[in-house]
Amino acid sequence: MNDTRRAVLDALADGPVTGPALADRLDVSRAAVWKHVDALREKGFEIESDGDGYRLSGVPDYGGTAVEHGLDVSYGVEYHDAIDSTNDRARDLAADGESDVVVLADEQTHSKGRLDREWTSPSGGVWLSVVVRPEKPPAHVPLVTLAAAVATTRALREAGVDAGIKWPNDVLAADDGGKLAGILTEMEGEADRVNWVVVGVGVNANVDAAALPEQGTSAREKAGDIDRRAFVQRLLEEFAALIDAPDAVLDAWREHALTLGEEVRVETPTGEVVGAAVDVEFPGSLVIETDEGARRVHAGDCEHLRPR
Ligand code: BTN
Repeated sequence: MNDTRRAVLDALADGPVTGPALADRLDVSRAAVWKHVDALREKGFEIESDGDGYRLSGVPDYGGTAVEHGLDVSYGVEYHDAIDSTNDRARDLAADGESDVVVLADEQTHSKGRLDREWTSPSGGVWLSVVVRPEKPPAHVPLVTLAAAVATTRALREAGVDAGIKWPNDVLAADDGGKLAGILTEMEGEADRVNWVVVGVGVNANVDAAALPEQGTSAREKAGDIDRRAFVQRLLEEFAALIDAPDAVLDAWREHALTLGEEVRVETPTGEVVGAAVDVEFPGSLVIETDEGARRVHAGDCEHLRPR
């Protein structure tokens, strides 16, 4: 949303305000004000007008402008009813030099999961990718992913869904371990400096479990449909607050972890590690007590064996 449209929307939210007063305040023509009002109505914003002027009386349930309105962090949001993959679109935006933008879709037709797996993205979910340019070396990027997992978990919990995190970044239902959300982080950088990071978050929000793979569950199944606009706003605000706060990320990750205290098997690129998961350490390594002593794993697929 451009700055003038944002200013018009904010003024209408604080309204009533007359067209001429708004034109004066924003130093634009009256015709420009009408154009913005029309465009906002077309996007689903309800704008009443009477003798006192214009007033915002309703915000659309979902969409880019709807998410941007009232969002407490300065991310731009590009919305698609359907797209192949929000991560692919975000990568293109990153390659064009964009930053602090979010690609958001109601449905994805070719979405990607971790380790080249497929990801199912029916209409009604929350499928988004954030482009950021953190001033970090590539080795610290796992923290960005952990921040997204924490932000997603907190937003789900605030929406009434009892969620927790399986290392490194799966968000599961706390009661039965069904998968509620996954995160796919992609990046480009040099040895000592990240150029861009795309954090893709997929949340099974208002979808039937029958539309998901076997291990999947959804917010709808666990707690009923959620307000996706408010949910995305909370997720993005939490993520932005955590991205440069490593200690806060690790503390919050520990607080929401389902993995700590579990017997786990982690398939790492160099082999299998089995033992008790005891901690997570900077920049996101899992500490596992094995028969041979403590091992730290930095990447891999984690399976919870049985509660300890
Ligand atoms: C996983 O395998 O658990 C990660 C799944 C990540 C899916 C999200 S949905 C939004 C973004 N776009 C994609 O194509 N993938 C990610």
